[in-house]
Amino acid sequence: VSDIRPIEWETDHLRILDQTLLPSIEEYRELRTVNDVILAIQSLAVRGAPALGAVGAYGVVIAFIQAEREQWTPETLGQNIRNLRDARPTAVNLAWAVDRVSRYLGDGIQRILDEAQAIENEDREANLAIANNALTWLDVNYQKPSYRILTHCNTGTLATTYWGTALGVIRALHLAGKVTEVLVDETRPLLQGSRLTAWELEKLGIPYRIQVDSAAAGAILGGMVDFAIVGADRIAKNGDTANKVGTLSVALACKYAGVPFFVAAPTSTFDQSIASGNSIEIEERNKREVLNFGNIDVAPIGSNVFNPAFDVTPGSFVTHFFSETKDAVYRGE
Ligand code: MRU
Repeated sequence: VSDIRPIEWETDHLRILDQTLLPSIEEYRELRTVNDVILAIQSLAVRGAPALGAVGAYGVVIAFIQAEREQWTPETLGQNIRNLRDARPTAVNLAWAVDRVSRYLGDGIQRILDEAQAIENEDREANLAIANNALTWLDVNYQKPSYRILTHCNTGTLATTYWGTALGVIRALHLAGKVTEVLVDETRPLLQGSRLTAWELEKLGIPYRIQVDSAAAGAILGGMVDFAIVGADRIAKNGDTANKVGTLSVALACKYAGVPFFVAAPTSTFDQSIASGNSIEIEERNKREVLNFGNIDVAPIGSNVFNPAFDVTPGSFVTHFFSETKDAVYRGE
């Protein structure tokens, strides 16, 4: 999977692996305008918090090139960059990266491209450091020869720029011969678990079974899981963690059963500007994601729907945060 480059900058445009078509079709898409980038983000062709950071960063480069090509006024450029920044609200990495690169708009194309590439490179390094730190922590604090792990959503290469966050930890554990099995929540409604995580695990040769989301609590309380590990889209100062909807149910079951619940995320996902999860905007997505399965209706036409893309797990439910800095327990410090 490390050969797969889901996001690649090519001279003057971005090439992304279209995740809406996985696992059956591996097809790349070229993004040449700000609207191409926004559409790719909103349709989840590219997704996952750290990946959104990298795409947002390169999106600013694309905006700059488009502005020159189409002779935009500074106001038009500013508006396009704001639209990009707001394409999805919950993952803090997108706004963080867009802001970080935008600071250099006055310094020319090379400077902003350098900054975007720095964000991508830092994420690659963070992926490996997160995995290393997690392995060390588990060796010191848990010391099992092999683990049965539960994960939710997709946090691998597809969601980042390299090994992944939670899935990067699983990958490193597997290389150390310490993974018995991964239980993969399918992750309704868009199936990031069964479509994407299982696809990555299959390619990596890591043993897994897919389960429906509602099987997770029973597996955890039934003693089938040594720990659960997930990624994050935004982590508040007190450790409250927004992640793909369904994460909270996993965390609640872990808390009840006394099973460790870990969150793996780069520091770019820690939002030091908010005290708690109450300030995290939760994206609500289109009702079609719930009412249709592919093109098939799975509910009465016209049903009302509640479709939050994320939920917030209280920081106190998290046994430990794995980040690229050794002790990333951002609980009001
Ligand atoms: O809506 P998505 O697919 O962008 O969901 C976000 C995520 O990928 C997850 O919540 C993930 O666990 C955090 S990003 C590594």
